[in-house]
This record gives sequence, structure tokens and C-alpha cells, in this order.
Amino acid sequence: MASPEIQRIGVVGLGAMGAGIAQLGIEAGYEVVGREVTKELGEKAQERIAHFLQRKVDKGQLGAGERGAALERLSLTTELAALADCGLVIEAIVEDLDAKLALFAELEGIVRANTILATNTSALSVTEIASAVGTPDRVVGMHFFNPAPLMPLVEIVQAELSTEDVVEAAFRIGERLGKRPIRCHDTPGFVVNRVLIPLLNDCLRVLDEARVSPEDLDAAMTAGAGWPMGPCTLVDLVGIDVHVHASEALYEKLREPRMAPPPRIVAMRNAGLLGRKSGRGFYSYD
Ligand code: CAA
Repeated sequence: MASPEIQRIGVVGLGAMGAGIAQLGIEAGYEVVGREVTKELGEKAQERIAHFLQRKVDKGQLGAGERGAALERLSLTTELAALADCGLVIEAIVEDLDAKLALFAELEGIVRANTILATNTSALSVTEIASAVGTPDRVVGMHFFNPAPLMPLVEIVQAELSTEDVVEAAFRIGERLGKRPIRCHDTPGFVVNRVLIPLLNDCLRVLDEARVSPEDLDAAMTAGAGWPMGPCTLVDLVGIDVHVHASEALYEKLREPRMAPPPRIVAMRNAGLLGRKSGRGFYSYD
């Protein structure tokens, strides 16, 4: 069913993840239509992408002409109707099931019959999201990791009704985006978050149990366990709200105490300390 020669990809939601996915798309030669709810949010994402591509030019990893050509391949819209010609649409909006259900239902009325609909959800069920549409066979998970342009993995998540050819097409597109795709089924947290969320929560509990500072905990896990960045730095990068939401969603489904978010980060989330994006989390950012 899925067209093998997809040229145009839609990305809905251009926050940190959506902007990163759009960047991967234009760098890989796809035309990307990025949709945000306001023009200003779209332009903010475009500036972010332009900045990271400029850093690659500065470091000799990309030609200035290639950067210009890649940026030309990105168009912005506030209208879902502008995604009508996309062979693949990747949803990267807020992690709210109702919002995703409404979006997928609306998208189905806009895109072609053979357009693949992918979700970048990290903790919701792809099968539940697919239930919003009359053709759930074309829905698949494409779960990227933060920061999407740098993290090599993409989890290709087969929902209950996803067809083999849709999963295969998503896998091939993941490869063309320069990623190392893996295939998995639609279980809570898929592969990485099933392991990483409780592990990060254990780390954060140790803050209070061992009365260790965030700096020393990060030093412990980088210098003592070889992690590329410490758990507090990582949770600040991912977003404390995102991490709390993913923990709650997995706890609700699996009922494993380690999945539940430690009270300390729930309090931080409630106080608006969301990590890098709000300027303050475990650390302060300018
Ligand atoms: N988008 C695009 N480019 C970016 C970027 C971003 N968000 N962030 C950084 N870059 C670019 C920058 O241009 C940077 O170079 P300059 O500083 O010279 O401008 C370049 O990438 C390299 O950045 P770093 O020097 O910071 O790279 P590094 O070698 O230190 O590695 C890292 C950074 C890959 C993030 C590494 O620290 C790492 O692997 N950290 C662990 C991250 C991780 O575990 N992510 C998964 C989170 S869990 C998740 O995402 C699941 C979920 O569902 C919530």
C-alpha cells in the first residue's frame, strides 16, 4: 500500500523533537512541510534548524550551498491542509492522547489514501492513537530520541493493525534519515523507555537517599558508569514535564513502582522547573 518513493514528509508539531525530525528530513533530501499552530512557533523552529545547520557548516561537516538547499526544502504552515501531498506525516505534538486522536482523525480527511501516518509518541500506545482513523493499517510509531539530529536510534513501532509494508516503509525512511532503525511491537515504553525511564527514576531517587548533589550524581554516572551525560543533565534536556508524563503513563500501564516519578521531580514540574526549555531544572541555563 505505501508508496516506495516518498519525496515529501509532513511534520506536525515543531517543538524540540519535531524540529529535529524536520532537520533530519531536509538534510536527507526530502521536501518537508512543517506545521505549527502559529507562524511564530514555526519560525522559531526554522531558526533553530538554520542555527544547527550553520554550526555544521562552521565545523566543515556541511557545505554552505548544501545548507541553503536543505533550508529551501523546508516549508512552514499553520494549516493541516498543506500536508495533503505528503507521503508520510510524522506527528510530534504534545503527549496528550485526546489531542493526538483529534489530529489523526483530521489528518485522515486530508491526506492521500496511501499516506503513512506516524507518531513520535514516547509513552502512549500507537494502537490507541491509530484507533482514531478508519484505516489504522497505515499507522506506525517512529520514535526518535532527543536530540533527534544526534541520537542514532529510531524505534519503528508496529501497532496491532499496522501492515508489514507500512512498517517496512517506515524502517527504510528511518535508514534514509541516517538513523539505525529497530523494529518492535507496541508495548508500554517500547524498548528504550521501558528500560531508561525506571533507570532514570532510580537515579533521581538516589539524590535524596544518598544525599548526593545533582553535580555529583552526574559525575558518578558519567565517570563511573560511562554514560555520555549524567541523569540530571539528561532529564533537563528531555524536559522534566516530558519525563514525569512518560513515567506516569508507564506506571499507569505497568504498575511497577520504579516507573512512578519520584515526588521531587513532580514538585519541580508543578513549580515550572522544566529543565533547559524553561531555563531552570536541576541546573540553570542562560
Ligand atoms: N539539534 C541539532 N543539533 C544539535 C542539537 C540539537 N538539539 N544539540 C546539539 N547539536 C549539535 C550542535 O551543533 C553541537 O555542536 P556545537 O556545540 O559545536 O554547536 C553538536 O551537535 C555536537 O553537540 P555536543 O558537543 O553537545 O555533542 P556531544 O558529543 O557532547 O553529544 C549527545 C551530545 C549526543 C546529546 C550526548 O551527550 C548523548 O548521547 N547524550 C545522551 C542523550 C540521550 O540519552 N538521549 C535520549 C533521551 S531519552 C528520549 O529521548 C526518549 C524519550 O522518549 C523522551
